[in-house]
Amino acid sequence: MTFATAEVSAHKKAIKPRDRSHDIADDLKGDWLDNDPFLTTFFNTLSVTFPVGEKFFIDSVRHYRSDITDPKLLDDIRGFCGQEGFHRREHQRYNNALSHARGYDLDKLENSMTRRLTWAQKRMPPLTNLAVTVAIEHFTAVLAERLLSEDSLINSASPAMRELWRWHAAEEMEHKAVAFDVFKQMGGTDKSRRRAMRRTTFFLTLELTKGVCYMLKKDGNLFNLSIWRQGLKKLFGKQGFFAHTWQPYKEFYADDFHPWQQDSSHLLTEWEASTTG
Ligand SMILES: [Fe+2]
Ligand SMILES: [Fe+2]
Repeated sequence: MTFATAEVSAHKKAIKPRDRSHDIADDLKGDWLDNDPFLTTFFNTLSVTFPVGEKFFIDSVRHYRSDITDPKLLDDIRGFCGQEGFHRREHQRYNNALSHARGYDLDKLENSMTRRLTWAQKRMPPLTNLAVTVAIEHFTAVLAERLLSEDSLINSASPAMRELWRWHAAEEMEHKAVAFDVFKQMGGTDKSRRRAMRRTTFFLTLELTKGVCYMLKKDGNLFNLSIWRQGLKKLFGKQGFFAHTWQPYKEFYADDFHPWQQDSSHLLTEWEASTTG
């Protein structure tokens, strides 16, 4: 499928927020992903970043709502904010249950990211914050593709957790171009988009590493090298979760990049056929 066709076909579909809730409190007491403490910790850390991050994404996009006149893009913005709002609520519940079950200090875990994003909202131009949103939306779209693929690691999760992560992934895929399209319409440049991606890659890696270390330490696993070795292999090894993500990550740096150049809509269709509600 060519770029133009993919972009147009993706644009025909309305972005629909799906108000789902997931009964996961019991799963969060244990190593719910593949019975693996490292993998479970990695995904739990991702979850911790979502409510703070998703508020920032909604604010960054909503800032430009009154400047947009294209009715399709206005509908997309409504869908985007609705979806991120539900994700935020579900991951807040997730994080509250997680910290209750495992004795994690959620404020401490969220603190540096909250401070960083609050600072950005006060001090940085809105278009720079939107560029950061565009960059992180690309990360989540790449991650979503892995979560929805047939051989995904998430298939080793407990059923409720699998359902939650796949629901979030499907909606990330569905709205993956919204922040990008707003950024372009508002005159965002490729240079600032690339700069945002470089900075975001650094800070996100830092935040995730800190979160993983905190949780492993709390669980008494920080210095268990076999847990690290096994988990890192399942994430970054040749057959690992992130094995095919370098290429789509790099595509973001191209001048003519658009999120729907990667036409992943079949994964969304397959997910819709496999889920209820
Ligand atoms: Fe989300
Ligand atoms: Fe998103």
